Amino acid sequence: MPAHVRLRPITEDDLPHLERLQDREEAGPFGFFGFHDPGRLRREWADRGLLTDDGGRLAVAHGADGRFLGEVQWRRVLQGPASPCWNIGISLLAAERGRGYGTRAQRLLAEYLFAHTRANRVEASTDVANTAEQKALEGAGFTREGVLRGACFRDGAWRDMVMYAVLRSDVPPAPSAGR
Ligand SMILES: CC(C)(COP(=O)(O)OP(=O)(O)OC[C@H]1O[C@@H](n2cnc3c(N)ncnc32)[C@H](O)[C@@H]1OP(=O)(O)O)[C@@H](O)C(=O)NCCC(=O)NCCS
Repeated sequence: MPAHVRLRPITEDDLPHLERLQDREEAGPFGFFGFHDPGRLRREWADRGLLTDDGGRLAVAHGADGRFLGEVQWRRVLQGPASPCWNIGISLLAAERGRGYGTRAQRLLAEYLFAHTRANRVEASTDVANTAEQKALEGAGFTREGVLRGACFRDGAWRDMVMYAVLRSDVPPAPSAGR
């Protein structure tokens, strides 16, 4: 797993890359959900830096040169009235896929969320056909919990999704440097 990957706040220089990740070709078959308000990203970045109490987005960066590799996202979901957890997502630039960065970034995001929020569970769901993401989540220490049938509408059809999660007790506290 590459050690030279880190998460950092999204800078203005990252915004063109993030906009590219919204393109159909760049997003790839599992990442394109139609065209959306093109100005929203820059408005939300200017407003709060894409970081709120209910979720956020961070850049996945190459540690040595800070190069933008992609982004991770998280949003609060409730499994019960007093049981918030985080649902995460990831998207890497097409040219940066398949080098272990997705595995490492999702591990770092789980460690970050357990270090800086009180959540007990970080979950992620992905299309049953998205082998790369399933393997990346398993490599990051997530456990496959089951299949959510017909849970996600994408590209003209309802898709089955695999649910993964990692619990606080699964992740020993990491040294604070780099989080
Ligand atoms: C899914 C994604 C985050 C995975 O990150 P990545 O850096 O490409 O994956 P990694 O290099 O960490 O590889 C993880 C595993 O998947 C395998 N893998 C990588 N690309 C693959 C592919 N296209 N098909 C099958 N397996 C693949 C790797 O061999 C590795 O397997 P291993 O753990 O047995 O060694 C990344 O490819 C991506 O951003 N894809 C587009 C957006 C997306 O699908 N996001 C998830 C939506 S839920």
